[in-house]
Amino acid sequence: MRTHYCGQLRAEHIGKTATLYGWVDRRRDHGGVIFVDLRDRTGVVQVASNPDIAAAYEAADALRSEYVVKIVGTVNRRPDESLNPKLPTGEIEIAAEQIEVLNAVSRQLPFQVSALEGETVREELRLKYRYLDLRRSRMQQNLRTRHEVVKAIRRFLEDQEGFMEVETPILTRSTPEGARDYLVPSRVNPGEWFALPQSPQLFKQLLMVAGCDRYYQIARCFRDEDLRADRQPEFTQLDMEMSFLNQEEILDLNERLVCHIFKTVKGIDLPRPFPRLTYAESMDRYGCDRPDTRYGMELADCSDLFVESGFKVFSGSIKAGGIVKALPIPGGNDAVSNVRIKPGGDLFKEATDAGAKGLAFIRVREGGEIDTIGALKDSMTPEVVATLLERTGAKGGDLILFGAGPAAIVNKTLDRLRQVVARQLSMVNDEQLNLLWIVDFPMFEYNADEKRLEALHHPFTAPNPEDLADIPNARAQAYDLVLNGTEVGGGSLRIYQRQIQEQVFAAIGLSETEARDKFGFLMDAFEFGTPPHGGIAYGLDRLVMLMANEDSIRDTIAFPKTQQARCLLTDAPAGVDPKQLKELEVASTYQPKKPEADAATA
Ligand code: AMO
Repeated sequence: MRTHYCGQLRAEHIGKTATLYGWVDRRRDHGGVIFVDLRDRTGVVQVASNPDIAAAYEAADALRSEYVVKIVGTVNRRPDESLNPKLPTGEIEIAAEQIEVLNAVSRQLPFQVSALEGETVREELRLKYRYLDLRRSRMQQNLRTRHEVVKAIRRFLEDQEGFMEVETPILTRSTPEGARDYLVPSRVNPGEWFALPQSPQLFKQLLMVAGCDRYYQIARCFRDEDLRADRQPEFTQLDMEMSFLNQEEILDLNERLVCHIFKTVKGIDLPRPFPRLTYAESMDRYGCDRPDTRYGMELADCSDLFVESGFKVFSGSIKAGGIVKALPIPGGNDAVSNVRIKPGGDLFKEATDAGAKGLAFIRVREGGEIDTIGALKDSMTPEVVATLLERTGAKGGDLILFGAGPAAIVNKTLDRLRQVVARQLSMVNDEQLNLLWIVDFPMFEYNADEKRLEALHHPFTAPNPEDLADIPNARAQAYDLVLNGTEVGGGSLRIYQRQIQEQVFAAIGLSETEARDKFGFLMDAFEFGTPPHGGIAYGLDRLVMLMANEDSIRDTIAFPKTQQARCLLTDAPAGVDPKQLKELEVASTYQPKKPEADAATA
């Protein structure tokens, strides 16, 4: 029987006999004594095997990395010269009395699991042999953090706030959260399809109609969208819905929840209330709706300064309905060379990738003199220069970058540059946690490709009661929670009256028939006594990523997909037996592409 876990042994156990199970992290032969670092999920302990105990020594000699072993021995204090204060078990070692191999490793390991060497392994290899990767202490720690976060959530919501967890279907109808659906054909109803839920949105609203009052779920969601470091096709939400609470009450409860999570898991006291920004203010000052407020470099709208400017790039953009905005970079005069902001440079490329046509800039010399291309410099009066410096807060030694053109592109460009520059110039304090609410989102956003309005959050979000007379331009009662520039959660108060829901569907161009066909069940429910309600969903993977100081949510999910939406471990997705497709009455139109070489000779 196991008496202890490896990582838990301390000086207080000296003299005790320990029976341990685990994996050989590393084995070192120090001529005479063989040292084995034995690892389990709690950590590593050093085992010393002496030739005096011949059977154990022989077994130790045959051990190799990742063998699974049982070791019995006495806990001893380490000799002074081998004390290791960096290791929690560094004061002790186990004098091996019995070593039993429970399972050997019969193939060459694809990489060393030991923490000492594991960090440089390619991600594809880590994902293919994920079970080995997960043995590493960093990944064990991330899984544990995730577990602790979920445990804290459950304790707070269930035990303190009276929430009940309810499971909602995975085989369902599509919910419009804005991404493509994963579809599942129905064998029993040939020609018809289930969609995997993009979120439990409609079911949680129906649970409010059902009188559940306070619902939550650790809910798996599926979205077929372009993947990034913080997006997975299959991800987990902490999903919540509450009846009879107004927006202030919902935000208050959620701040207490988030504080509880950070306090329980990290021992951190977050200051409350969390700051708030309106969507309009956030776009104005940061060019995005999820600003990282750990550093300054706020954008300044300078359109009024350049309306009549002789610098046509600026005045022309404004006349065409666009804007001119400035991004001041403290110390940027020395830190950012011309090569980088002119065509061919990395920052110029960032700008053009975001849709900008170019990247104008001004260097501010000591004493407030400005330096830039002649056409721009000549167009600026001393008053314009003074106002620009005042508005941007730029001083001698700073650099000012400009965006000119349609507001959406200018904001996207400067937001991107602000983030890249902050990282490069080490302005980001990784220890800091800046949480903030973004509120007063607009209900809709114009989709230029489809030439129609689109719900910014989703079409079940309630408009601000003050704006009911003009639904297409209304503000929404929606809120997002942003942590260090990442959107960790978002929610809203919901529509609970049929007539308003119909107006919102009409605004996004959904005909009455389409609305009835897709959401008739919801509108019917509105007529059977629906309470006022609202809710929120957090990206659990993202929250854990930020709490574990990781850069990708893949490191917080046990078995994630790659950027190409593949599982390298099981090699999914994969082809299926034609018999299965036949049963489902599904045929593929896919034509595999000819290999390059064939195509060239064809
Ligand atoms: P939303 O679409 O904003 O809202 O999603 C809520 C949160 O889920 C996380 N998230 C993701 N995480 C990983 N991979 C993805 N592909 C992904 N997409 C979203 C984000 C986001 O803030 N039903 C509404 C919530 C509500 O109104 O109550 C919804 O799903 O952190």
